[in-house]
Amino acid sequence: MDVLSRYEPLVEDFAAFEAACERPLPSVVRVNTIKADADAARAALAESGVDAEPIAWHDGLFEIDGQPGANWPYAHGWLHGQEEVSVLPALALDPEPGDRVWDACAAPGSKTTQLAALMDDRGLVVATDNNLGRISALRSNTERLGATSVAVTHEDARNHSLKPFGGDPYDRALVDVPCSCEGTVRKNPSTLEDWTMEHVTGIAGVQKGVLERAIQATREAEPSSTRPVRSPPRRTRRYSTTSSTPPTPASSSSTSRWIAVPASPSGKASGTTTASNAQSGYTPTSTTRAGSSVRSWR
Ligand SMILES: C[S@@+](CC[C@H](N)C(=O)[O-])C[C@H]1O[C@@H](n2cnc3c(N)ncnc32)[C@H](O)[C@@H]1O
Repeated sequence: MDVLSRYEPLVEDFAAFEAACERPLPSVVRVNTIKADADAARAALAESGVDAEPIAWHDGLFEIDGQPGANWPYAHGWLHGQEEVSVLPALALDPEPGDRVWDACAAPGSKTTQLAALMDDRGLVVATDNNLGRISALRSNTERLGATSVAVTHEDARNHSLKPFGGDPYDRALVDVPCSCEGTVRKNPSTLEDWTMEHVTGIAGVQKGVLERAIQATREAEPSSTRPVRSPPRRTRRYSTTSSTPPTPASSSSTSRWIAVPASPSGKASGTTTASNAQSGYTPTSTTRAGSSVRSWR
């Protein structure tokens, strides 16, 4: 089966879409603002003999020649290798310093660490994954990047418990569900060979279960009049790049609004984010933080 032909009814210029799927992915790094800024990171790359071209739409992204991890700024946690499209969900979620955020399917932690950086490493990011092998990568990335606001839990996100974190609901949640991976075709062309409809239908139940838990575990938005409005306006967000039908917009009388971004084979991001306007009342304690290290809960 030609897997991508499923997208034909959805895509305006299907030939351009197919051509895009065949273009190799550039090597892109995100500057970790917990440890460095864009100027320092670029200078460090130059010192390491790595040419870094700024990405026009985001001043903390560079396209580099060579592997993202083969230079000292990466080893010191100034940089993280992350595809451009993978940077979008955390920007859409738009967390604030002090928020309590749940990253429900977090490993290996590209978006978790980006969320912590967007929050100036203040507040709490609970990073959950059910795959122990991938959790080691999540922990190692979190530690390398110095994201001390992150707590790692090893569990099935569908059964996630709020108890270890005081029981209060989250201000925001990002759900980057496991998926059929067509979106990674530029990185792994063999993805399409392994694709089966059985897997797609099987994984849909997990996606729905994790999404439901994230909605339950996240507080409703407060009326917008209770806090200053930033640009873009703060709002509850449920963001999806899965193949599932996106949720319908909330009624206009509600403070909740929805945005949906379709899955795209130009990158790997997939997920649902839920956000509200409330600031976290979370007080760090030794049971949920481990200073510069990161703790895991089962
Ligand atoms: C798309 S990847 C996440 C990528 C990650 N958000 C990032 O940006 O680095 C999906 C993750 O979901 C995890 N996963 C699959 N089923 C899960 C479940 N029921 N509960 C929690 N995590 C799950 C997988 O182990 C995998 O690491």
